[in-house]
Amino acid sequence: MKILVTGAAGFIGYHLCEKLISLGHEVVGLDNINDYYDVDLKYARLNELGIIRDSISFNNLVDSTIHGLQMQFVQMNLQDEMELPKIFADHKFDIVCNLAAQAGVRYSIEKPMKYVESNIVGFVNLLECIRNFKVKKLIYASSSSVYGMNVKVPFSTDDNVDHPISMYAATKKSNELMAHTYSHLFGIETIGLRFFTVYGPWGRPDMAIYLFADAISKGNPIKVFNNGKMSRDFTYIDDIVNGIQFFLAKTPNENSLNSSNVNYKIFNIGNGNPQSLTDFISAIEFNFSLKSKKDFLSIQDGDVPHTWADISQLEGLGYNSTTGITEGIQKFAAWYKRYHHENN
Ligand SMILES: NC(=O)c1ccc[n+]([C@@H]2O[C@H](COP(=O)([O-])OP(=O)(O)OC[C@H]3O[C@@H](n4cnc5c(N)ncnc54)[C@H](O)[C@@H]3O)[C@@H](O)[C@H]2O)c1
Repeated sequence: MKILVTGAAGFIGYHLCEKLISLGHEVVGLDNINDYYDVDLKYARLNELGIIRDSISFNNLVDSTIHGLQMQFVQMNLQDEMELPKIFADHKFDIVCNLAAQAGVRYSIEKPMKYVESNIVGFVNLLECIRNFKVKKLIYASSSSVYGMNVKVPFSTDDNVDHPISMYAATKKSNELMAHTYSHLFGIETIGLRFFTVYGPWGRPDMAIYLFADAISKGNPIKVFNNGKMSRDFTYIDDIVNGIQFFLAKTPNENSLNSSNVNYKIFNIGNGNPQSLTDFISAIEFNFSLKSKKDFLSIQDGDVPHTWADISQLEGLGYNSTTGITEGIQKFAAWYKRYHHENN
């Protein structure tokens, strides 16, 4: 299949490109390579795909030096309504996987317009291209953050998600609503995947595991919010990517949210096994053979104390996450040490 992966220089998008190439698909990656976090890490991920930094410029398609025409990349803003249709005109995509977004809960409180630009305007622009160029299927990243302050656990796709507590969550919920509209009006199959705290090699520097590893290895204190009374359904990157791949070929006859729209689907992808933050920190300490210094702080605005994915819907379809934190953190730590050793 020919697949457009947006957010290809990002954490999950990069891993998805690697997976799709290994399966023999043709991939066009798109990313604006914004500086929300260290761009060197984004270029390093692209380099792994054979996309060389010096060859990249805005709105120009480049071929992979490793995979040739099987992996191409374009630096582009999703919200650029003049340029985005050109990519669709030049390629007949079977599927679009939208992983590009302005991520991060806390940053969305400081810079809400960044979220409106990428996650709202960019998403509608993408939907319009999918509609106009008759792409049959859209798989897009939603988030566990849509569950907001819900207290009933585990979080189920049947639960009410009308109470987001950050702009990030509000934009992700908006994506689901807009996907519903386009599925209904134009018969596009849309699959929204609510990811739960993803971690692993090539991960994001603004996320807890990376922040903790960085601080612990440098002897700096780590910030432990809500005085450590937090738990997360940490999900290893391979389980997320395998989950996306599961939906590429499949059209599961499973419709969530009791919608009458058969083309519209929402699923959780989580581990289904939440871990306390303190256990998570201990596992990182173990892998770095160092003890952390902890600054205990109150919970941050926009953040929730607990997440836990109800994964019964996916299990029912035959998909399971298989990586626990012992194995997952060990793989992250091995990558972190190698990457920082090579880049220092
Ligand atoms: N990592 C997680 O734990 C997690 C959890 C839930 C949901 N998600 C969602 O999964 C997706 C991928 O997340 P990630 O962790 O890989 O984040 P990431 O920030 O590493 O990747 C997103 C990429 O999108 C690009 N991008 C942002 N705005 C863009 C725009 N307007 N046009 C083009 N490119 C743009 C960025 O440059 C970045 O490389 C996002 O939609 C995110 O909201 C991630």
